[in-house]
Amino acid sequence: MQTISSVAELQSELLKVKGKIGFVPTMGALHTGHISLVKQAHKKCNFVVVSVFVNPTQFNDKSDLDKYPRKLDKDARMLKEAGVSLLFAPTNSDIYPKGLKTEVNIDLGKLDKVMEGQFRPGHFAGVMQVVNRLLEIVKPDFLFMGQKDFQQFSIIAHMLKIQKSKTQLVVCPIMREPHGLAMSSRNERLSKSTREKAALIYKVLKSIKRRRKTRTINELKAYAESKFAAPPFKLEYIAFADGYTLQPILKIDESKYSVCCVVVWADDVRLIDNIILTKD
Ligand code: PAJ
Repeated sequence: MQTISSVAELQSELLKVKGKIGFVPTMGALHTGHISLVKQAHKKCNFVVVSVFVNPTQFNDKSDLDKYPRKLDKDARMLKEAGVSLLFAPTNSDIYPKGLKTEVNIDLGKLDKVMEGQFRPGHFAGVMQVVNRLLEIVKPDFLFMGQKDFQQFSIIAHMLKIQKSKTQLVVCPIMREPHGLAMSSRNERLSKSTREKAALIYKVLKSIKRRRKTRTINELKAYAESKFAAPPFKLEYIAFADGYTLQPILKIDESKYSVCCVVVWADDVRLIDNIILTKD
């Protein structure tokens, strides 16, 4: 596996590739969830590129950016073991060279006005900016993203559609720790005991799914609020949304594709998770 940081060098390597290119963008501190995207990529592509870049423009909280774990050597070892063809590890100036306009001007309508968009202003403009820039550099046939960041993949799907992009998005299932907590680079910041307790998030999501036909959305919200009422937890939001438009729904069966998205703080760590409630 080659590790490359220069855009020009990467592009000259990619020119040699025959067959399909798969691309997995990440911010590093890799775990089994990221590697599951690599595995999916291998199923469809003969050349798999993974990027590791902690993108400053998507952090609305400077201390979150500073605290973000950086472990490039360990990441490289994991990617090599997973059979990745090329690791792209650019610097800020490779991605955002002076004088290059990288902002993406696409109207997201209401897609970014809810959930993460509401609580993390500017976050999705930053995500679109970096993913668009990375796609322009790598020009992959397939892009692999996780269901874990439901609104993120929905917005990127919208961007690709508007751009009439040739890159096809593949959304991969959420990988979980044995007790159910969604894998995340942030889990490492949890104490052992809070990490165990955080299994509650998926338990609550599963209970909500089980109860979807017998309870109203307000009852389900109240149930979640009661479950996360005490430390180490603090519920930031729980949203019941249409899986395509991301807009709030009033009844679960009014939507053919519905999802419950949640953000829970466990001590000082922000954890995101979701569960699909209905899908035809
Ligand atoms: P990062 O948080 O590193 O995630 C990279 C990809 O891995 C995303 O598509 C995310 O949804 C997926 N992922 C994370 N945890 C997962 C899990 N438990 N199971 C399955 N997939 C999982 O998301 C980002 O980076 C950035 O916003 C990025 C898209 C790279 C742009 O900077």
